[in-house]
Amino acid sequence: MLLSGRGSNFVALAESVAAGRIPNAEIVLVVSNRENAPGLERARERGIAARVIPSKGLEREAYDRMVVAALEEVKPELVCLAGYMRLLSPYFVEQFRGKILNIHPSLLPAFPGLEAQRQALEHGVKFSGCTVHFVDETLDAGAIVMQAVVPVRDADTPESLAERILDEEHRIYSEAARIVLEGRYRIEGRRVILTSGKA
Ligand code: GAR
Repeated sequence: MLLSGRGSNFVALAESVAAGRIPNAEIVLVVSNRENAPGLERARERGIAARVIPSKGLEREAYDRMVVAALEEVKPELVCLAGYMRLLSPYFVEQFRGKILNIHPSLLPAFPGLEAQRQALEHGVKFSGCTVHFVDETLDAGAIVMQAVVPVRDADTPESLAERILDEEHRIYSEAARIVLEGRYRIEGRRVILTSGKA
């Protein structure tokens, strides 16, 4: 798992694994590009290996080569980005093609990039939500595995909307990770079609 901050999506996945909701899964490594990411401590208190690989001052691919090297030591079947606030280089994507998931707090392709909840409010949409998608070379644009809709309320602030979206993020990220790990999907063009068994 790669993260940069709070780590609530990481915790949700870790709890799903611990509760058997993602059968036969194990979180083998958490990597943060920020030293003070609270998610690191939350991993360590669960007995999960957590490493800081500082990104400051490094060029994108040089940094990604360090992260890929750390991941190669543990050979993950899936790399989950959970509030990882960096764009992956083509090099990184190539090493783990089809095995990287991201969670984004909007109904993509609406509102990619930073502050998606604020973008949604400012645009005036009545529904927003979250998206789990495969990561490719384009920002927030890979094939969509799962989405959940969250209604926008008139009284919402970016914070209140973000909080309700976050509940749905925690729910669908585990579901999507399970589907992908169990191979219960096939890809047709941009569409991820859910199936009953391994493709
Ligand atoms: C989550 O809302 C996640 O969707 C968002 O950052 C937050 C991380 O929270 N990610 C992005 O905006 C990626 N573009 P967390 O650290 O508590 O999981």
